Amino acid sequence: MWAPTVIHGGFSAAEVEEIKRAVNIPVITVGRYTEPQFAELMVKEGRADLVAFGRQSLADPAMPKKAQEERLEDMTPCIACLQGCVANMYAGNPVCCLTNPFLGHEAEPLEKAEEPKKVMVIGGGVAGLSAAFIAKERGHEVTLYEAGDVLGGNMRLAAYPPGKGDITNMIRSYIHRCQKDGVKIVMNCEVTPELIKEEKPDSVIIATGSKTLILPIEGIDNPAIIHGSDLLDGKRAAGKKVLVVGGGMVGCETAAFLGEQEHDVTVIEFRDTVGADVIHEHRVYLMKDFEDYGIREITGAKVCKFYEDGVEYETADGVRHESRGYDSVILSMGFRNYNPLEEKIKDLVPETHVIGDAIRARRALDATKEAYEVASRI
Ligand SMILES: Cc1cc2nc3c(=O)[nH]c(=O)nc-3n(C[C@H](O)[C@H](O)[C@H](O)COP(=O)(O)OP(=O)(O)OC[C@H]3O[C@@H](n4cnc5c(N)ncnc54)[C@H](O)[C@@H]3O)c2cc1C
Ligand SMILES: Cc1cc2nc3c(=O)[nH]c(=O)nc-3n(C[C@H](O)[C@H](O)[C@H](O)COP(=O)(O)O)c2cc1C
Ligand code: SF4
Repeated sequence: MWAPTVIHGGFSAAEVEEIKRAVNIPVITVGRYTEPQFAELMVKEGRADLVAFGRQSLADPAMPKKAQEERLEDMTPCIACLQGCVANMYAGNPVCCLTNPFLGHEAEPLEKAEEPKKVMVIGGGVAGLSAAFIAKERGHEVTLYEAGDVLGGNMRLAAYPPGKGDITNMIRSYIHRCQKDGVKIVMNCEVTPELIKEEKPDSVIIATGSKTLILPIEGIDNPAIIHGSDLLDGKRAAGKKVLVVGGGMVGCETAAFLGEQEHDVTVIEFRDTVGADVIHEHRVYLMKDFEDYGIREITGAKVCKFYEDGVEYETADGVRHESRGYDSVILSMGFRNYNPLEEKIKDLVPETHVIGDAIRARRALDATKEAYEVASRI
């Protein structure tokens, strides 16, 4: 009913066309239509009479108007993550949207800042980007600093595994909105307390994200162990036979990424099941990838030692085992917040705010929600 990211837009077009041929009443189709061009084509070619936009209307209620005005680049896309809308609906909570943090706040439009402030946003991930455009749209003077040479933070890496490419549309739309609003973007600049002293901002928003979690396990710091984020980013390459240590969402998607490239992959996970934290609709397709690529699973396994070619692990019965003989070992046991500045700068500036993974490594939905909460009130 609500196709996940891996299912492409207009996936049911062929079936809709068959139905349209078989009946003589109007046919309305729905299903992951994000791009209005494709929906328009469906109608122009007579394959349907109307196209309905479900989640895209949550991600950007103004999309039809933007399409009419040929401003598609201004559109905020639905990335079919299901995190803010469907997950909340099932939980009995009001729906919100990962890409559109304004959803649910229609009755409280953004207020212009009473007093424009000089705002420094530190970090060009989705938290920093969204905080920057929201603060700018309220009239503040905003500069966003990114330590690296590319924007998007970890969500950029999230787009590499199979079927998740649409995430890049979110990053692109955020960068475009910052540029269009006139946010000053400074790349390759790691913000330090000295820079903050020089710049003398009125307000600092810390959105420095997270780093790979390094648990105190023997051998984990061996340089031969590849961090999953370095692998996805193309900074490190894996050999043919690979062990992915950690079978949560990121570990499983990294395994699928390697499987798609014909590596021989095994995932080892502490819990009794892999991908336990993956939203059901996404997990169905992720597990199909595991099947298609022959990815093996070792579950209920507590890793207690790393080797260059594998690990030693303990099962619930206290018995120790070894799984070795791999060409590469990939570390994917989670992330921890990276917030080296807050303590050092809190006495240097009138106000400091921390948002996103810099508080605690979680998901992008938390990052954009916190960006909205902070940037709409500073
Ligand atoms: C592989 C992977 C897959 C994921 N998949 C999903 C998913 O499908 N759905 C989901 O919701 N979440 C996913 N996540 C989590 C999601 O990416 C994060 O929750 C989100 O990126 C947090 O955004 P952020 O802006 O707070 O931090 P980040 O994305 O980490 O961005 C922080 C930025 O700050 C910069 N920075 C750090 N220090 C400084 C400094 N001193 N000066 C200037 N810049 C600095 C960094 O270079 C970085 O660009 C995934 C994460 C990973 C790693
Ligand atoms: C939060 C949410 C609630 C929905 N509630 C209903 C509903 O009550 N009845 C229904 O027939 N469809 C419901 N839908 C399904 C949508 O009408 C639509 O068919 C579906 O989201 C697929 O379209 P999309 O890919 O454009 O989102 C809901 C969808 C979402 C995201
Ligand atoms: S929460 Fe995700 S799936 Fe739901 S409307 Fe927003 S982007 Fe689309």
